Amino acid sequence: MNMMLRRLSRAATAGLVAAAALTAAAHSAEAADTLGSAAAGQGRYFGTAVAAGHLGEADYTATLDREFGSVTPENEMKWDATEPSRGTFTFTSADRIVDHAQSRGMDVRGHTLVWHSQLPSWVGTLGASDLRTAMKDHISGLMGHYKGEIHSWDVVNEAFQDGGSGARRSSPFQDKLGDGFIEEAFRAARAADPAAKLCYNDYNTDGVNAKSTAVYNMVKDFTSRGVPIDCVGFQSHFNSNSPVPSDYRQNLQRFADLGVDVQITELDIEGSGSAQAADYTKVVQACLAVERCTGMTVWGVTDKYSWRSGGTPLLFDGNYAEKPAYDAVLSALGGPGGPGEPGGPGEGTATCTATYTRTADWDGGYNGEVTVTAGSEPIGSWTATVTLPARQSVSALWNGTAAFNGNVMTVRPSWNGALAAGTSTTFGFTVTKNGSDAAPAVGACTAS
Ligand code: G3I
Repeated sequence: MNMMLRRLSRAATAGLVAAAALTAAAHSAEAADTLGSAAAGQGRYFGTAVAAGHLGEADYTATLDREFGSVTPENEMKWDATEPSRGTFTFTSADRIVDHAQSRGMDVRGHTLVWHSQLPSWVGTLGASDLRTAMKDHISGLMGHYKGEIHSWDVVNEAFQDGGSGARRSSPFQDKLGDGFIEEAFRAARAADPAAKLCYNDYNTDGVNAKSTAVYNMVKDFTSRGVPIDCVGFQSHFNSNSPVPSDYRQNLQRFADLGVDVQITELDIEGSGSAQAADYTKVVQACLAVERCTGMTVWGVTDKYSWRSGGTPLLFDGNYAEKPAYDAVLSALGGPGGPGEPGGPGEGTATCTATYTRTADWDGGYNGEVTVTAGSEPIGSWTATVTLPARQSVSALWNGTAAFNGNVMTVRPSWNGALAAGTSTTFGFTVTKNGSDAAPAVGACTAS
């Protein structure tokens, strides 16, 4: 199946399952008693890393589906998993995660396009010119497969050395292409999926230090020169050797002040009991204090499958019981009674508006775009309906998930549900005219 057919087929599958799945998604959006819904009440997403191999385990998927609003494939989108030999892409495991997420109304983070680790050996054998081509082909092949389906991509991961120098880490990319490989990767990523947020992701950059300052200077340079970058990911793997830094919020804020979003991308904190809970509280509070901290992802559902399982660093124990850290995170997120939720400020008063524009037009079709704008309260999610004139049909949709009932398309967010008061997002769609050039009608927008 070629890439375009596969993508349309992926979109159709998502549309078909959306109607059934949205019941569950809408349910969790109504009660802010889960991590995902409480975070949505604060205008953030709360996600987890997921391994495709565990999706068959009932307790794993029940916990995942109940609690989280975003998923990051833990290994399945890495280079060794997706392009084990040059030009041959395999998406089976990653598709499994993306399909599962979409069927439950969850968003997906992409991890990761260019990284020195989990890199198949053929990449390291290439000369500079070939390597540059292979890097760009990998980016366009992987991002193209999921175009419109990933809210944020870790474009380059861990390109800086640890320690005090702030130097770049040795890798085939760094050693053969030089410092410019990061910029080249981001430019290729923007071309491959213009709707995705493009992130630089790293560890030991959580506080203000030489490594984070080196990343900061790179982001500052990129934004000043118009190199496309939208976000910085802070992995946030903490333990007693690497505790939550006291200047965590300050560090997130200095990046946000450069005009990029910040995201906590791989959070885990070794420990147990109230000490671990207190550390998780610090992290959540830091993110909530930074307006451009758009979401948090913990690096796994359960302690038993963590890459640091011995350190019990996650929110659910090996039996999927909620740990004190879980209660602390839920409470820090506002828990039951968060903004717009039952018992909370703005309960029942959240509103939104939807306006329609035709953004492109050709003989057989057109592109439409709907702008959804939150009213005077923050909203956790929204629903907009688009009624198509007779004969017209939708062939593609981005930045939203659709369920069809006759000629009425009901659209809900993909990654873009949470909106601060007065802010907007858009979704778009391609229509086949089938002889009718009439405009669709956009119905009332409802917010939750
Ligand atoms: O799937 C094979 C299995 O078939 C085989 O029997 C087994 C034997 O070792 O290996 C399995 O693969 C392992 C894979 O995880 C899946 O469990 C790899 O060996 C192992 O190296 C791999 O570890 C992953 C690690 O990245 C590799 O660098 C972890 O799951 C994953 O959590 C971790 O995630 C990274 C982020 O991508 C980047 N930031 C740091 C973070 C933690 O290291």
